[in-house]
Amino acid sequence: MTILHVDSSINGDGSMSRALSHAVVAHLAALSPSQTVVRRNLAAEPLPHLARAGVENAPVLEEFLAARTIVVGAPMYNFGIPSQLKAWLDHLAVPGKTFRYGAQGPEGLCGGRRLIVVSTRGGIFSAGSPYAAFDHQEGHLQAFFRFLGITDITVIRAEGLAMGEEAQQRSVEAAKAQIQTLAA
Ligand SMILES: Cc1cc2nc3c(=O)[nH]c(=O)nc-3n(C[C@H](O)[C@H](O)[C@H](O)COP(=O)(O)O)c2cc1C
Repeated sequence: MTILHVDSSINGDGSMSRALSHAVVAHLAALSPSQTVVRRNLAAEPLPHLARAGVENAPVLEEFLAARTIVVGAPMYNFGIPSQLKAWLDHLAVPGKTFRYGAQGPEGLCGGRRLIVVSTRGGIFSAGSPYAAFDHQEGHLQAFFRFLGITDITVIRAEGLAMGEEAQQRSVEAAKAQIQTLAA
């Protein structure tokens, strides 16, 4: 079984979403040591934007399809996901491979996989907060992967990271505690 670890922050080793997504992978790998981990750092090795319909990056798609668990480090950039991460999504949405349309509408073809999103952001956008409607990051990822048929989705969130040291520490500790509760 393979864990695909994808991250997308431009902050290199200082990235919180990278550190937390790494902690998720380390936790899962410790629970099931036989799993293989495949890493894709979308900031270090950006994928090209789609240039022509029907010309996707087949190895990127195969890598995704081969994974049973996908862990995605996703910081919020300008209320959405980093463009590097969006470019990856664009290579995964392939009709006939990951979804199809029929008389009943869309059908996702990627069921049976587990997705863990590590969401980080400077401000606070959780449900009920005044800026909840500005969140086009977590909702985008959840909608996209649900469309592909993935229903087992967990979000590990560290937010308020730019709102002072205390808020940051509290949020990161809560995210780390949540990671420790993840089942194999
Ligand atoms: C280019 C850029 C855009 C950002 N836009 C937002 C934003 O719209 N809202 C927000 O709360 N934080 C924003 N931030 C702050 C990041 O979300 C926060 O620092 C990040 O989630 C931490 O993750 P990282 O350390 O993995 O990069 C932005 C940061 C960068 C670098």
